[in-house]
Amino acid sequence: MWVSPTGGTAVLPRTVWSEESTVSVRWQTQRCFVFIRTRLARLDNASFAGRTRRQCGNAQTLTEENATSSLRFERLTELLISRIFLSGPHDNNARISCRNRGGVRTQILFRPLQLGALKLPHRLVMAPLTRMRAAAEGVPTALMAEYYRQRATAGLTITEGTAISTQAHGCPSSPGIYTPEHIAAWRIITDHVHKLNGRILMQIQHNGRGSLAVYNADGSLPVGPSAIRYEGKVYTPAFEPLDPETPRALETSEIPSLIGIFVQAAKNAMSAGFDGVELQGANGHLIDQFLCDGSNKRTDAYGGTIAGRARFLLTIVDSVSAAIGANRLGVRLSPYGRYGGISDTDPIALFTYVVQELSRRRIAYLHLIEARGSEIGVTDELHANAPNNAALFRHIFPGPLISAGAYTPESGAAVLESGRADAIAFGRLFIANPDLVARVRHGAALNAPDRATFYGGGARGYTDYPTLRPEPVAA
Ligand SMILES: Cc1cc2nc3c(=O)[nH]c(=O)nc-3n(C[C@H](O)[C@H](O)[C@H](O)COP(=O)(O)O)c2cc1C
Repeated sequence: MWVSPTGGTAVLPRTVWSEESTVSVRWQTQRCFVFIRTRLARLDNASFAGRTRRQCGNAQTLTEENATSSLRFERLTELLISRIFLSGPHDNNARISCRNRGGVRTQILFRPLQLGALKLPHRLVMAPLTRMRAAAEGVPTALMAEYYRQRATAGLTITEGTAISTQAHGCPSSPGIYTPEHIAAWRIITDHVHKLNGRILMQIQHNGRGSLAVYNADGSLPVGPSAIRYEGKVYTPAFEPLDPETPRALETSEIPSLIGIFVQAAKNAMSAGFDGVELQGANGHLIDQFLCDGSNKRTDAYGGTIAGRARFLLTIVDSVSAAIGANRLGVRLSPYGRYGGISDTDPIALFTYVVQELSRRRIAYLHLIEARGSEIGVTDELHANAPNNAALFRHIFPGPLISAGAYTPESGAAVLESGRADAIAFGRLFIANPDLVARVRHGAALNAPDRATFYGGGARGYTDYPTLRPEPVAA
């Protein structure tokens, strides 16, 4: 099948590169035409378009129009340009063959990976995604079980942020892991995932100052490292947006028991059949609030210096490691993140120290969110000049590193190739594509996520995204 350019535009469907394909170039009076031949029958899912628009003497180059497939496009461009220059502008036989089988640029995502105690069959990780569909008291539902079952072919599933106590809640209908009912309901979910040969970790979290008094049984104020407000709206259990309350600064004497609650939550997660836990140290939650000097003005052992501010996280890491094993513990961080008004005056110094300390503790993995995307995927806007966390911190973390944040399969594969990460977490792509793994493997088109149904609601936008096959198959 041939795709011919119209008016100098070559439409390059995403699927072209997933099968053997041939690209040829033809010149006619200074205009360069590009033809693509592929054995694929379906070419209707064009996701990017290249345009022959820049004149270079007698030659013309293709320029990238859509960043999502930049790597494949760059390779094609390179080949075209070199061939055009070699053959001269009037050589109608200029012909380039690109033999890319099975999406060669994303193949690297399909290499197995040892992540602490877990052996991942491939490197596409499902990022933690709060979906606000738990029942009363934060008990997971049958619908949630279906949602996780549908996505069980992920190399690793990380659950939505799950509250370690009533005080830890900060979102409506978010689940918990502090009662026997929670444990029993999560057990159904882990069983579903394990039956499909999947692996699942629970992300345990405390919202800290991002909570509200209404989440506390006794109506007491949310807590934080210091009495400094969260920024942005906070949602009540009835999904009403409120201005944040000024939190109560935790007493030094309270902190050991709070750390004990993290440990108990990790043990509960193991009782519920999880393969381990991820500590939510990112996105402006309590641990992040302790780390960053914009929210931590303490003068005790948990504040002041970088070592002081990191003590809360590192003590939790040590305590949880002692309880369930460091090889079943991952930590998520978001250097340069801004969510909830989080800020630090020297993120490089802070996170260099924290990452070095985590590395020494030989945790199962470090999970870094890139600052270029929206922290919780609320916009598609990219901050092109944001610091690259994988590049900044990889060299001090030789253990497994998961990178997250506005990745496409192609850009994720490129980061793996660069050695800056070992696995890629996809958020919105897993929301919209329960069978993301199969789609990437076969170079199939991806469903687009529906932002309106991200938070709260029922099956719509949760368990009704179409799949290529009716049922997920074991990875
Ligand atoms: C609906 C939604 C809910 C999210 N919930 C969480 C969460 O519970 N915990 C967390 O660490 N990150 C959460 N995130 C951030 C994602 O894990 C991920 O880092 C972010 O979406 C960027 O990845 P993406 O561009 O692949 O979507 C959420 C993102 C979205 C879109």
